[in-house]
Amino acid sequence: MLSHCLRSPVLQLAFFAALLCPLSFAEPGPSTLIGNVPSRATVSLDGAWHAIVDPYEDGLGARFFQDAKPKSKSDLVEYDFETSGTLLVPGDWNSQRESLFFYEGPLWYQRTFSYAPRPSTRVFIYFGAANYLARVWLNGKKLGEHVGGFSPFNFEITHEVANGLNDLVVEVDNTRHSDGVPALNTDWWNYGGLTRSVRLVEVPETFVKNYVVQLEKGSMDQIAGWVQLDGAAPSQPVTIEIPELSLKKSITTDARGYAEFRFPAKPHLWSPEDPKLYRVLLTAGGDTLEDQIGFRTIETRGTKILLNGKPIFLRGVSMHEEAPFRLGRGLSEDEVRILLQWAKDLGCNFVRLAHYTHNEHVARLADRMGLLLWSEVPVYWDTDWTNPATLDNAEAQIRDVIARDHNRASVILWSMSNETPPTPPRVEFIRSLAAYARKNDSTRLLTSAMNRVGKDDPKNRVLNDPLGEFLDVLGVNEYIGWYEGTPEDADTTHWSSPYDKPVIVSEFGGGAVYNNHGDAQTRWTEEYQANLYEHQLRMLRQMPALAGMSPWVLMDFRSPRRWLPGVQDYHNRKGLISDRGQRKQAFYVLQKFYREMEAEH
Ligand code: GCU
Repeated sequence: MLSHCLRSPVLQLAFFAALLCPLSFAEPGPSTLIGNVPSRATVSLDGAWHAIVDPYEDGLGARFFQDAKPKSKSDLVEYDFETSGTLLVPGDWNSQRESLFFYEGPLWYQRTFSYAPRPSTRVFIYFGAANYLARVWLNGKKLGEHVGGFSPFNFEITHEVANGLNDLVVEVDNTRHSDGVPALNTDWWNYGGLTRSVRLVEVPETFVKNYVVQLEKGSMDQIAGWVQLDGAAPSQPVTIEIPELSLKKSITTDARGYAEFRFPAKPHLWSPEDPKLYRVLLTAGGDTLEDQIGFRTIETRGTKILLNGKPIFLRGVSMHEEAPFRLGRGLSEDEVRILLQWAKDLGCNFVRLAHYTHNEHVARLADRMGLLLWSEVPVYWDTDWTNPATLDNAEAQIRDVIARDHNRASVILWSMSNETPPTPPRVEFIRSLAAYARKNDSTRLLTSAMNRVGKDDPKNRVLNDPLGEFLDVLGVNEYIGWYEGTPEDADTTHWSSPYDKPVIVSEFGGGAVYNNHGDAQTRWTEEYQANLYEHQLRMLRQMPALAGMSPWVLMDFRSPRRWLPGVQDYHNRKGLISDRGQRKQAFYVLQKFYREMEAEH
């Protein structure tokens, strides 16, 4: 009901005003996100920021956001950013300082930057992500807050930025909340901080805020989409140009700066084997935006997933946003390329990005490297299903990842959740979230990773989770041979589903310490893990409706729930590759299987 009345501009204004009040989470309105920031003129604010650790969050009362200095020798100021040490941005604080390894709570970042305002230019400050709650001040004035550790957000500072030195203060608090998304318990490290790049983004007074240029749903010869302008002159001509296709179309936006378009085109279709990207230009008044876009179609037909009209088998692996070799967040483009190349070396054409929105590098590199992506929001394990603010939070996260990645050919699946209990409130929560996701993007497939299957007879498992009713693709996590039974049990386990829909086995796997060897029955050995994979792959080959898989997991990663000394040491060891880049035997078992699959398809 609420969303309808938010359509009127007056109420939208009231909505944005509400955003500035602490921690009230109104129903998410349209995304305020600037699209395609990587192609915008930006000033990077990355680097060393001063940092004050504030466990009791007294910094609010002490008004840290004023970055005060003693005015006289007798003046009392009990904090000083300049002498408080620094932390690197982008990055998490846990892996940068031994003393902050387990730290969860508020921490204040501060840095200055010089700026010379330019005529008829607007400025935004853009955060790639901040885990979990961020409060932002510029020159002592509050810009706003953001909740959600993995989504980008931005604030306009055109009227706040000073000509000369500016003082930016950001409080980041990674405290977990039972009504949060994610909630209290996760099998990944709760890295806190400004975990992705921070930039100043300069745009003309009226600019292209966001747009979609994709093949029309179900068509291979119609390009369709929309453009949203933002600024004083919302209604004006916009041209969409694809030089390589000798296409140049002009449309005119309406009084709200919005226009849709549709025109015939015959692009060479994007696929993992042939990731063809086209240079696309959007021009409106003084603003020209360039993007590299691939055109492909994605749909399901019965139990098949069709890419460009042809059935495809998704040879995948699951992956966390954890840096290779050093662990932690704040991955550079090169570090992401290493992870995706490892997936390619494995023989993958697909990667499941678990369990939250990954940084923008990933989707753009996957577009170039030819990898299909599953992108998930962190509705993970038990969540506060009946709390409207929690649903709003989840909706805002799916809205913003769609607003950021909707032009990425690589992204084919939006996942609503992971391993959630099949209770009625949960079904309603995810039904609403899925409907909201479809409203924001009707061209991609919706899925969830489910782990509650009918197993009255454990040898005959039934994928009958009620979510299957309204999702396009069923994701199933199963750990036969690790959390239940032995690897050999997979040989005699059969699967079925009442839904005529494609199935992706989104997780299976077992732990192993690299270079720890023994017989195949000994846990934590490479032999045990490899044996588990052998039996799993044999079982999955027999699985009806199987359209893909993404074993758990590409690389060992940190987790607060993995304690075994000398084995786990706060790492989940189910990686096919160690966190030092060493490939375990199971890597080669899966690689061989994927090579065979590729040869067969
Ligand atoms: C779960 C969960 C993962 C977790 C994995 C494991 O299925 O989805 O986040 O890391 O199992 O137990 O290793």
